[in-house]
Amino acid sequence: MRLFLDTANIEHIRHGVELGVISGVTTNPSLVSKEGKVNYQELVKKICSIVPGPVSTEVLSQDASGMIAEAREIAKWADNIVVKIPASLEGVKATSVLAKENIKVNFTLCFSLNQALLGAAAGATFISPFVGRLDDIGEDGMKVVFDIAQFLCYYELPTQVIAASIRHPQHCFMAAKAGAHIATVPYKVLLQMIQHPLTDIGIKRFTDDWRKVMGEKRIIETPAKL
Ligand code: E4P
Repeated sequence: MRLFLDTANIEHIRHGVELGVISGVTTNPSLVSKEGKVNYQELVKKICSIVPGPVSTEVLSQDASGMIAEAREIAKWADNIVVKIPASLEGVKATSVLAKENIKVNFTLCFSLNQALLGAAAGATFISPFVGRLDDIGEDGMKVVFDIAQFLCYYELPTQVIAASIRHPQHCFMAAKAGAHIATVPYKVLLQMIQHPLTDIGIKRFTDDWRKVMGEKRIIETPAKL
């Protein structure tokens, strides 16, 4: 399972890319609004230049012709741009047209297998079931990810499932177990994923034991800075 960052924060994106584990980014108007007053287009273009993979950004129109017009414009911003189209009937229509023009679509705000069936049939590159938002209303968000992943795999469809609306580290490994191709994670969750108290204890114990024998001597006296 690949990892995308779900943010529009440049510093967080730079850090994720520097770690070598982030191969894409998803944004939405709410995430961009957290960055204050910005030039939307410039910000998205900058993200596209930093990230070595797909960067999703959302259309605002609710009718198919408006979505198509916006998507055609957005598609010119960068080679790695992906247009987020909502999982509505108008969204299905827009996705069908855009897919034929080879514009990559992330079929977003997906909450059911039926919506995913239509997104895949329309030719979406990615489908994003929103796990956390389903959990919030007492449904099982990860079950929807599992069902979509199984369906895409069974019919050998090229569409990839992005587990979205990830809220905590458990969602990440559950998404991998459910067969998601990608999980898009908030920066905070990315940092939480690596944490384990036994790792910290183990590092301290090895350091203490080394000191008992070698004192302050190191393998390399002045470790090179990355
Ligand atoms: C995904 O593409 C969305 O940007 C995101 O995962 C939404 O998450 P939220 O439900 O935490 O807002």
